[in-house]
Amino acid sequence: MKQMLQELRDASLKAILECEDAELLESLRVKYLGKKGELTAILRQMGGLSAEERPRMGQLANKLRADIEDAIEDRNKIISALKMERRLISESVDVTLPGKKQSLGHKHPMYNVLDQIKDIFIGMGFEIVDGPEVELADYNFTKLNIDEAHPSREWTDTFYFTEDSSILLRTQTSPMQIHAMETKELPIRMIAPGRVYRKDEVDATHSPMFHQIEGMVIDKGITMADLKATLNLVVEKIYGEGTVTRFRPHHFPFTEPSCELDIQCHKCGGVGCPTCKGEGWIEVLGAGMVHPKVLAGCGIDPDVYSGWAFGMGLERLALGEYKINDLRLIFENDKRFLEQF
Ligand code: PHE
Repeated sequence: MKQMLQELRDASLKAILECEDAELLESLRVKYLGKKGELTAILRQMGGLSAEERPRMGQLANKLRADIEDAIEDRNKIISALKMERRLISESVDVTLPGKKQSLGHKHPMYNVLDQIKDIFIGMGFEIVDGPEVELADYNFTKLNIDEAHPSREWTDTFYFTEDSSILLRTQTSPMQIHAMETKELPIRMIAPGRVYRKDEVDATHSPMFHQIEGMVIDKGITMADLKATLNLVVEKIYGEGTVTRFRPHHFPFTEPSCELDIQCHKCGGVGCPTCKGEGWIEVLGAGMVHPKVLAGCGIDPDVYSGWAFGMGLERLALGEYKINDLRLIFENDKRFLEQF
């Protein structure tokens, strides 16, 4: 028996010393010291020993158990130290390597222009409002006095969600006029920037998604003079003092009278050049006095209140401001392009 214990001692201590893994070490403990382990198996044979040998063997066995336990404990410490060392090596950072450049993003050029316009209107006491891009045809068309036969209602022009043409992607920000009149207390001074959608093929000047800014004022005694004065001021703030404007008669179903506002080409001073396509003038926005029918439809008495509204394309403004000649660049999000601004 003594020899068996000696053999177990040699084998177990060797295995423990060679063990490199905590889980494996635990299985060694079970193998040698467990209830069904090798030491127990040897001890079971104690019955066959003489009375004087038995305590000596018992002592030896106990000593072996203690030694194996100590060895396992020591080995455990070494294994965790090894593990930590390996981790430190594998996770070590070479501080002499060149760092990765952190490139900071910045605002999109078009949103710079939008922020500039927001600031101008906030400075005049306007409120900035936001509204749905998925809109009811009622709000996009009907309540704006756009009749059933109007070409912009065609399926070839507008993105519809429903067969009955009742839900759509708004084609203009003008439905925000209705939302404002239906929900806000009078007087109203608001602008509503946002995305609009039309079934246009993508090219240098068209995109099926683009941005407009709607603006509207409703109060007592508002006239076309307020419209002209306010928009002239806005134009001067955007394009510089002394910018010459022209209000051209136009037609929109929801304003009466309606107009379009042009600025004299800042490039050629009105002579005609590629920027203004030889016209001398550049169209900036559509506007007009809110139609009495539209006011009445929103529960506002047109005999007491009046107002003006405008709708302006944002992309064209940004293209002009940054001398960009292709609308697609605005939406492609090519970093090489965007980084220039
Ligand atoms: N919604 C019109 C358009 O998209 C612009 C407009 C807005 C005209 C408000 C008059 C008043 O062309």
